Parts: sequence; structure tokens; C-alpha cells
Amino acid sequence: MNHPSGISELVINRLPRYYRFLGEIMGEGNARISSRELSERMGLTASQIRQDLNCFGGFGQQGYGYNIEQLHSEIGKILGLDQPKKAILIGAGNLGRAIATHMAFESRGFRLIGIFDKKEALKGQIIKGLPVRSVEDLDDFCRENLPTCAILCIPKGEAEELCGTLIARGIEGFWNFSHCDLTLKYPGIVVENVHLGDSLAKLSYNIKNK
Ligand code: NAI
Repeated sequence: MNHPSGISELVINRLPRYYRFLGEIMGEGNARISSRELSERMGLTASQIRQDLNCFGGFGQQGYGYNIEQLHSEIGKILGLDQPKKAILIGAGNLGRAIATHMAFESRGFRLIGIFDKKEALKGQIIKGLPVRSVEDLDDFCRENLPTCAILCIPKGEAEELCGTLIARGIEGFWNFSHCDLTLKYPGIVVENVHLGDSLAKLSYNIKNK
């Protein structure tokens, strides 16, 4: 299946992994890497890597391999990581707190600028340098700060209710941890659903069928 950008979803799914591996390799001090070495380290074939990168014009020179730093930077630009997007997090419970605290937003193209929860008792608590705000302040906050992305760490029913409001306030992308499929309900908005349980169930299938 192709993405609206015309690139296959499968290729897009591999880009963050290229970016991560190249970032690690960059720290080893070499300037270039052959497509064969990169493929061995990533467990892909060299021809797969060439095909993937050719979707964006190709970045290697036959016989010279890839300039690691340049390829890392180009893939970062393709992913839009060089254009920081303002994000807010909704739901400062166990999950929201862990994500706000441990996720390296800046190196993934986002800046976390606000954390919101409906629980009065959490108001004013500091998480990763940001005060937890009341959901009642969302309207003013969005008007003043123009976030374009929301991270949802609230129960399913609450997320479905809140999404329309957030879209009306300028949110166009959701990193959705709530157990609901927003893509079906709001066609046209950009959603990345993350369900750790799906990944765990897949592990179970693979153990059963190994
Ligand atoms: P939690 O109960 O510790 O935190 C939820 C927080 O959301 C609470 O502080 C609550 O006051 C707040 N909240 C609820 N409705 C809200 C609203 N309308 N606006 C603002 N804040 C609101 O729960 P936990 O463990 O952090 O999990 C959050 C959700 O994420 C749960 O529904 C859970 O099922 C889901 N989850 C999803 C995972 C995934 O892989 N997608 C993994 C783990 C949990």
C-alpha cells in the first residue's frame, strides 16, 4: 500500500530504523559505510537498502558506499525531524508520565510543550520540567501556543470524546496510546496508534509457531 506521498508504507516503516542505526554507526567515527556492511548490521539485503533509498533519489555512489552523516541527515529530513513540531500530552498517569519523562522528543522531531490531566490533584505537579495543567486550560493554551500534535494517554472512551475538540483546536497529528482506532473515526487526520499489547500478542504467536 502506498502512502499519500507515493512511497510504500513498508519503506516508510523502515526509515526510522535506518535513522536509528545510522545514528549509532555515526558515533563509531567512520565517515562511510558500504551497502553490504550496512545491510549486514541491519539484517536486510544490500539490494533492499538500495531500493528503499532509491525511492528518495538514492544516496550512495557505486563502489564508495554511503556517507554516514549525510545519509543520517537526509533520512532525518525525509522524516521531517528537522522541523520541530509542538506536542501536548493528555493524561499524566502512569503511562503519560513515563512517556513524558523517557521519550527523546527533540531528536524525533517534536517538542513537548504542555501536559494536561483532568485530575485536580495533579495540577501543578512538574513532569520533565513542565507543570501538569488542567484540561480546562487547553483552549487558551492551544490558542496561545499552537501545538499541532497530541499524545493521548487516557482511557479509550475519554480519547474518543476529546479528539474532536482537539482537532478543532488545531491538532492534526495524534500519537495515540488509548485503545481506540481514531483513524476510523476521523478520516484525514494523521494518527500513529501504539498498542504494546499487539506487539506482545505477536510475540506470543511467533513463540507458538517457531
Ligand atoms: P492512569 O489511570 O494511570 O492514567 C490515566 C490518566 O488520564 C489519569 O491521570 C486521568 O486523570 C487522566 N485522564 C482521564 N481522562 C482524561 C481526560 N479526558 N483528559 C485529561 N486527562 C484524563 O492510566 P495509565 O496506566 O497511564 O494508562 C492510560 C491509558 O493508556 C489507559 O487507558 C490504558 O489502557 C492505556 N494503555 C495503553 C497502552 C498501549 O500500549 N497503547 C499501554 C498501557 C496503557
